[in-house]
Amino acid sequence: MVKVGIIGAGRIGKVHTKSICNLVKNAEIKTIADPFMNEETDKWAHSMGVANTTKDYKEILADPEIDAVLICSSTNTHSPISIEAIKAGKHVFCEKPIDHDVAKIKEVMDALKDSDVKYQVGFNRRFDHNFEAVKNAVTAGQIGDPHIIKVTSRDPEPPSAEYVKVSGGIFLDMTIHDFDMVRFLAGCDATEVYVQSAVLVDPSIGEAGDVDTAVITLQMENGAIAVIDNSRKAAYGYDQRAEVFGSKGMVATVNDTQSSAVISTAEGVTGEKPLYFFLERYMDSFAKEMNCFIDAIENNTDTPLGVEDGLKPVIMGLAAKKSVEEHRPVKISEIQL
Ligand SMILES: NC(=O)c1ccc[n+]([C@@H]2O[C@H](COP(=O)([O-])OP(=O)(O)OC[C@H]3O[C@@H](n4cnc5c(N)ncnc54)[C@H](O)[C@@H]3O)[C@@H](O)[C@H]2O)c1
Repeated sequence: MVKVGIIGAGRIGKVHTKSICNLVKNAEIKTIADPFMNEETDKWAHSMGVANTTKDYKEILADPEIDAVLICSSTNTHSPISIEAIKAGKHVFCEKPIDHDVAKIKEVMDALKDSDVKYQVGFNRRFDHNFEAVKNAVTAGQIGDPHIIKVTSRDPEPPSAEYVKVSGGIFLDMTIHDFDMVRFLAGCDATEVYVQSAVLVDPSIGEAGDVDTAVITLQMENGAIAVIDNSRKAAYGYDQRAEVFGSKGMVATVNDTQSSAVISTAEGVTGEKPLYFFLERYMDSFAKEMNCFIDAIENNTDTPLGVEDGLKPVIMGLAAKKSVEEHRPVKISEIQL
């Protein structure tokens, strides 16, 4: 049984707590830490069967009974807490992104060099049943050589301008998942990024220095071209689809819905909207990624997504930002490695 400490009891900390308590074998949460731990969260943690709560994550790092930590706190804490946890000999599952700064991710890489702890980054969409099926078809050669990869990723609601100011902006907070998806489906890295973008959803996002609508084209190392389209607001809900077109055919997904019922009447034909947002759409993938992390610890195998997989999408995000600022294609090699 792997004993776990959770650092950060916000949205994603609660998701991983629920997964471990209900869906992950061979893991048990001993302690949850959050500086804003209050009576309500404490009660909730105990109702989930968690033994301890604390305001100080250092208690988790100092606990010899705890084998692994999940870093689910605000993004600016990910790289420093990763390094502290690695030094304390704890296996680390770190939510995305590890950091906005390449140099700080390199510090995490350096800390990992002298240790044998497992490190996994939270790109959960790789574990989604739809995207896994697309990947499997590509890997099995069913569509031949990939030529065009298309990822559609649109949120149902924009975040606040306040959030955008600290999140690193659309490319480091939202598109980062799509950059990972493109790497996953292509099976290789990107060499160049070009972005067309606009503020069409919420002017306050523009005033905060970000964009809310973007089409990103990427040249992949294997010759394929990838296209990601993002919007911070799709009126019909969370739009999450992928397609790979290749020399022998194409594989594509549709959105998950509550049911597949289609109602046909004299007025028209209607179906259900996509599941609302990531908490509805991706719960299975969160549990699956966690099972993989725990398995890697138990069986002493590599995690499916290591620190390099955390670094590459950040570099792609920084290239995308530069492309917007300078309105030109940006080579990945231009971003300091
Ligand atoms: N993989 C995904 O799909 C996904 C989804 C949501 C969020 N995230 C990532 O997870 C992270 C958290 O996002 P969220 O939506 O849960 O945010 P949130 O604001 O709901 O929760 C963050 C929590 O971390 C706590 N915290 C801050 N500093 C801390 C510290 N030093 N020690 C312990 N706790 C601390 C805060 O008090 C807060 O409760 C972000 O980096 C985000 O990018 C990933």
